[in-house]
Amino acid sequence: MSNIYLTTAIPYVNGAPHIGHALDYLLADTYARYQKSLGNTVRFQAGTDEHGNKIYKKAQELNIPVEDYVKENSQKFQDFIQKLGVEPTDFIRTTDKNHETRCQKIWQKLENHIYKSAYEGWYCDGCERYITDKEYEENNGVCPDHNKPYEKLREENYYFRIADFKDQIESAIKSGALNILPKFRAKEMLALLEDTPDVSISRPISQLKWGVKVPGDDTQVMYVWIDALANYITVLGFPDKDISDFWPASVQFVGKDILRFHTIIWPAMLLGLGLPFPKIIHSHGHILVDGQKMSKSIGNVIAPLDVLDKYGLSAFRYFFLRHIDTFSDSNFSWEKYDAAYNNELANDLGNLVQRLANLCKKQEQKGLVDYQPKEDLEYQKLMDSLYFSKAFDYVWEKVQALNKEIDEKKPWEYGKRIKVADSSEADVLSKELDSLLQDLSAKLLSIAYLLAPFLPAISDKIIEIFTADLILPPATPLFPKSV
Ligand code: MSP
Repeated sequence: MSNIYLTTAIPYVNGAPHIGHALDYLLADTYARYQKSLGNTVRFQAGTDEHGNKIYKKAQELNIPVEDYVKENSQKFQDFIQKLGVEPTDFIRTTDKNHETRCQKIWQKLENHIYKSAYEGWYCDGCERYITDKEYEENNGVCPDHNKPYEKLREENYYFRIADFKDQIESAIKSGALNILPKFRAKEMLALLEDTPDVSISRPISQLKWGVKVPGDDTQVMYVWIDALANYITVLGFPDKDISDFWPASVQFVGKDILRFHTIIWPAMLLGLGLPFPKIIHSHGHILVDGQKMSKSIGNVIAPLDVLDKYGLSAFRYFFLRHIDTFSDSNFSWEKYDAAYNNELANDLGNLVQRLANLCKKQEQKGLVDYQPKEDLEYQKLMDSLYFSKAFDYVWEKVQALNKEIDEKKPWEYGKRIKVADSSEADVLSKELDSLLQDLSAKLLSIAYLLAPFLPAISDKIIEIFTADLILPPATPLFPKSV
């Protein structure tokens, strides 16, 4: 038994959740369920990132007190997480008092690596990020992600001396001590690291009112990413409590767009604090809509509740965990979603359960009450590699193979043969059918256990049906066909 700590990126609360936000939660949740099934203790953090100018400005635009605005939107994320069937053990809001005071203590611990200097350069509010001159030129002064011109800043800031840690981070990435998944992203991060200057980590209060105050300097507020990254350890109680039971994290789940913060500033902070690196930083790709980035200006933002409402939670989890490749960008489209539901969930799995349970019912089959799942090393290898969409494909191949086996072995033909057979022959045939149905039911149960981290409710249903005293088909199909 070991302790497993999983973290997810904390979304900005300047809007409601969209389908892209589901990915961190679903991936972490799948891994959490898998680890729990192995008998490990899982701590699982989620939260909301509530400081920064972007949020402050939005609240002002809407004429709502910023405290109310962030509270309301944080709640939307908490509701969303619950709707996804995701159960974090800890939920942190960066406006929590405890978080703020712990951030200040963290700042003080890093003080040997902090200095004050004038900043003159570019900033993107959308990214909440300082922009180098090189990037400014490459993008012609306009942020490609937010379609907004970069802002010119001229201010006194505190700087974090990344230079103190660059060599250590570089060799940790190269040796795999700082393990970045997928592997090809490590190269990108090494290139970025080389170009990273010391990072400005505060803003004058005149420019940024909504943030954690820099300890000992009333004129400055912490840069939002310092406060945000710290959440992964303040939620465990650092520095007030010993966090060694759960830190280093087993896996930190983030999107590819924010990987750079987690492989440069975050490791530097950890080194400065004398804490070990997380074991794995897992970066997922983006969900595209009809091949395009989701954006309000294009008008292609998909509201997660529309998707959830269409076929329910299991279909949602199925699509985002299997058809959105864990490591690269993938498309969402309603056509793909409908096809996945009808052809795969309803036809492949729903029908499989229905027809096997019906065959068992005819033969008055008892459920496999004492069924114990066997180890599946191939599956474990895929789950351990955290390539969940591949692991899910592997399970689906088993679903399809079982359908094929039933088609080939034609258990329904036994009935006709038994009818015309003499009594001793009928007896033999009936026993043969019993053992065939038992074998097929055991195979379906083994699939149900493999499905458990992905589709917990469906897995439970299948286990319930095929381990009951008497096997009976579900009253309503698991996946009713859409009209
Ligand atoms: N607040 C920061 C994260 C701080 S973590 C210490 C942030 N917030 S965010 O709301 O912009 O993004 C939250 C998460 O959602 C990130 O992991 C991001 O990659 C992910 N996604 C946002 N849009 C996405 C898609 N379209 N597709 C998949 N994931 C996406 O960044």
